[in-house]
Amino acid sequence: MIPCINWLQPFLALISSTLLTRGHICPSSCLCPDHHTVNCTNRGLTRVPDPIPLGVRRLLLSNNWIPWIPSDFLVLYSDLVYLDLRNNSLSQLEPGTLSTSSRLVFLDLGNNNLTEISSGTFGESRSLIKLRLGNNPYLNMVGRDAFTGLTSLRELELERNGLTALDVMVLESLPSLRMLRLDGNPWLCNCHFSKLFVWLTENRHKLPKGKT
Ligand SMILES: *[C@@H]1O[C@H](CO)[C@@H](O)[C@H](O)[C@H]1NC(C)=O
Ligand SMILES: *[C@@H]1O[C@H](CO)[C@@H](O)[C@H](O)[C@H]1NC(C)=O
Ligand SMILES: *[C@@H]1O[C@H](CO)[C@@H](O)[C@H](O)[C@H]1NC(C)=O
Repeated sequence: MIPCINWLQPFLALISSTLLTRGHICPSSCLCPDHHTVNCTNRGLTRVPDPIPLGVRRLLLSNNWIPWIPSDFLVLYSDLVYLDLRNNSLSQLEPGTLSTSSRLVFLDLGNNNLTEISSGTFGESRSLIKLRLGNNPYLNMVGRDAFTGLTSLRELELERNGLTALDVMVLESLPSLRMLRLDGNPWLCNCHFSKLFVWLTENRHKLPKGKT
């Protein structure tokens, strides 16, 4: 046994040094202030940079021109806790892209060009606490089961989108919701809206003061 361990020693040393250096990769043109943060804010990026260290927990990609996220993105970066994609050019989320994110707590998709949040987009993202989807001016469709599985979600932003209607089931499926923004949407006042209105009246305390 002992000679065998001696023989293995250099290999173990090699493996651990490879693992350590892996943490130091930083995509060119980004900043990596610590081992878990990659900051590519405002770099004129037209796609998700490469390579990103696999252990990244905070990924800041706001103020770029990124039009899509690869569908295996969160499978690859499974330690991500904080993902900021605010102010990019995302127009659609491929089904399943965000459904595997078991650790994600904060997700910002505000100021993009999303048109639809389809059912099952977020799958079982049970850790997600804050989801920002505001300022997507063409976003006019939120699937009835778009947010089912988001059992921890406390804050949801859907302000200044193109919503003319919203199925009240979408909101009823969020047991932890504490803060909701729906202001600045072009609501159509029909019978669907009246159900939403009843829900909003009963859940007034979840809306920011003076904003509906
Ligand atoms: C990210 O980098 C930008 C500069 O490009 C800086 O202004 C910002 O404070 C950084 N954010 C964090 C969280 O490090
Ligand atoms: C969005 O990002 C662009 C750069 O890609 C920047 O010029 C612009 O000021 C940003 N807008 C907002 C609202 O932050
Ligand atoms: C945003 O989407 C709309 C409608 O789908 C399209 O007409 C527009 O060109 C898009 N804008 C950008 C900046 O991608």
